[in-house]
Amino acid sequence: MKTQVAIIGGGPSGLLLSQLLHKSGIDSVVLERQTKDYVLGRIRAGVLEQGLVGLMEAAGCADRLHAEGYAHDGTLISYGDEMFRIDFKAHTGTPVIVYGQTEVTRDLYDARDAAGGIIHHEVSDVRIEGARTNSPVIHYQMEGAEQALRCDFIAGCDGFHGVSRKTIPEDVRREYEKVYPFGWLGILSETPPVNHELIYANSPRGFALCSMRNANLSRYYIQCRLDDRPEDWSDAAFWEELQRRLPAEIAAALVTGPSIEKSIAPLRSFVTEPMQWGRLFLCGDAAHIVPPTGAKGLNTAASDVHYLWQALTQFYQTGSDTGLDAYSSKALARVWKAERFSWWFSTMMHRFPDQTAFDLKMQIADLDFLRSNTAAQRAMAENYVGLPY
Ligand code: APR
Ligand code: PHB
Repeated sequence: MKTQVAIIGGGPSGLLLSQLLHKSGIDSVVLERQTKDYVLGRIRAGVLEQGLVGLMEAAGCADRLHAEGYAHDGTLISYGDEMFRIDFKAHTGTPVIVYGQTEVTRDLYDARDAAGGIIHHEVSDVRIEGARTNSPVIHYQMEGAEQALRCDFIAGCDGFHGVSRKTIPEDVRREYEKVYPFGWLGILSETPPVNHELIYANSPRGFALCSMRNANLSRYYIQCRLDDRPEDWSDAAFWEELQRRLPAEIAAALVTGPSIEKSIAPLRSFVTEPMQWGRLFLCGDAAHIVPPTGAKGLNTAASDVHYLWQALTQFYQTGSDTGLDAYSSKALARVWKAERFSWWFSTMMHRFPDQTAFDLKMQIADLDFLRSNTAAQRAMAENYVGLPY
């Protein structure tokens, strides 16, 4: 089998790239380890930057997002009983769109299916050969048989645990990592959101976040211990702890109900450099991870996809590899800024086990400054709605 671009991984990065390439007349094949149901069962953040919305439009997949997504012009930040708002619209002229990552993935699957796109699910033992030649081959197992996919380029969109990054030799690859000493326990519940905008809460008991999917579907998180298990937290214990971390007026307005999903996610900052090795290009979680504070994961994956789509389109239209050669440095320049923002926002909002009295004062000073300084609010708003591509 042969294609122009072999895409390893059928998460949002791989599917979006595949659909955008299709719009540019470039063929691709997506190889995904899991089933479609499994991929669609993963619940992740649900805040889209305008850049991603623009890519979904270019991909012809934005109708449902426009109909069902919610434009949020700002967000609330609380500490103790203090609360203030960052006005995205006033500072940047742009809102963010609240629309679940699962729905983004579903819309991309629908578009690939409608266009007759090839996605091979439940592939295993994926191996990359000849990434530094002009005709790489991907070997894999599917339906019990050994397969080979020849291509011009490989997009490694296979997430943090994929094979693509590890194909780049260790003496070429440099990895930067920070692991946070806590996790986020999240629940989904069929209850109206406590507020029409998100609330990020710093409290002496730890971080909390009030988010949503729609008018009757709420998503809430609380900072938890790394050794906590979802089954250790009853719904009642979750709601009680969440309420204790929110300002009194918000806690009083919280509508509780049974959880329909409950899970724990660890927090990590991670970047690998370079994001290109020969004809292998890394995109999204395969190359970088951010802690979820600020919802930059999917959005940063989207900017990689944008740069790679542009570079591949330029190559196939003009024969020039200028864009491809610049891919890694261009993508990384934006990745590091998203890393900085997510790290800063996480550091300001969480309780760390080894935090000193001085560190706590620094958090409060950071929050007081943000609350009272227009330039700081503007910087936060620009980062939250997404830096330009
Ligand atoms: N072979 C084929 N597919 C693989 C392999 C492999 N060896 N390893 C992993 N995969 C698949 C996974 O099953 C998954 O569906 O690659 C996909 C990667 O998807 P994600 O982990 O979702 O990563 P990405 O598409 O880059 O999405 C960006 O934004 O909000 C963040 O982390 C969140 O998933 C999100 C990300
Ligand atoms: C979510 O809705 O799941 C969400 C929103 C904002 C974040 C993280 C997660 O920063």
